[in-house]
Amino acid sequence: MFSFNPPKGFLSDKTILITGASDGIGKCCALNFANHGANLILLGRSTEKLEKIYDSIHTSNPNSITIHPLDFAAASISDYKQVADSIEDQYDRLDGLIHSAGMLGARCPIEHYPVETWEQTFRVNTASIFLLTKFLLPSLRRSDDARILITSSSVGRKGRGNWGAYAVSKFAGEGLMQVLAKELENTSSIKVNSLNPGGIRTNMRKAAYPAENPESVPSPEILMPLYLYLFSPESKGIHGESLNFKDFDPLTHIKSG
Ligand SMILES: NC(=O)c1ccc[n+]([C@@H]2O[C@H](COP(=O)([O-])OP(=O)(O)OC[C@H]3O[C@@H](n4cnc5c(N)ncnc54)[C@H](OP(=O)(O)O)[C@@H]3O)[C@@H](O)[C@H]2O)c1
Repeated sequence: MFSFNPPKGFLSDKTILITGASDGIGKCCALNFANHGANLILLGRSTEKLEKIYDSIHTSNPNSITIHPLDFAAASISDYKQVADSIEDQYDRLDGLIHSAGMLGARCPIEHYPVETWEQTFRVNTASIFLLTKFLLPSLRRSDDARILITSSSVGRKGRGNWGAYAVSKFAGEGLMQVLAKELENTSSIKVNSLNPGGIRTNMRKAAYPAENPESVPSPEILMPLYLYLFSPESKGIHGESLNFKDFDPLTHIKSG
């Protein structure tokens, strides 16, 4: 399994935005990135959940933490713009963007798929990535080593029946990553990749596999060495890649230094 042991505080001059920071993988990233000194901008739809995370980080870390409650299923374009503008006002630059928010939607054939759920799933899983990335690119460009990480899924790389909008929206996330990677490769130092975390013990996993024993899948903590690595100088040569936690080997992906 991939291991990475960065020096404590290696992210202390970095500012990282995490969506889906209120639970699961995003929450775990927030706690781990805070422990390594990052300033954090945390997005989630529940103010109460975000405040709890804020409190647990804030009491033990001097880092700057900002929370932005935003329901991606209902947010307007100007809501996204407002979040981006307030980040622009508060921070000199942005060093990282972790797109972790996601919703499962319905699990049924396309023929029976509820249209509203389809639209909502695309708003949460795809539009949020496009809008936040678009509005925050100027801030990311001001960093000398920024990273964007899009959370993918195995069903977003090979279609699977009954996974509906979730699968198709994850394919869109892969497409967005590839297009962005091409656009950025000669015009900035920003690196963009997607990561399929594999089966991880979270609420979403429980909803997708209700009969599964939750203890049979690992907790989000197992992913953290890889997440930290992908925001470290060591992974600077990884760009435009569809990564898998399960078989991740840096040597296969590093293109340049
Ligand atoms: N767990 C797995 O096995 C697995 C496998 C492959 C890919 N993934 C991907 O990993 C990412 C994280 O998922 P997870 O497993 O950590 O699931 P999770 O525990 O359910 O977390 C999902 C996060 O997205 C947020 N979210 C959901 N709907 C939202 C909305 N309308 N507006 C804003 N935020 C919203 C949730 O907020 P609340 O706290 O308010 O619910 C939560 O913070 C997702 O992109 C998922 O597709 C997970």
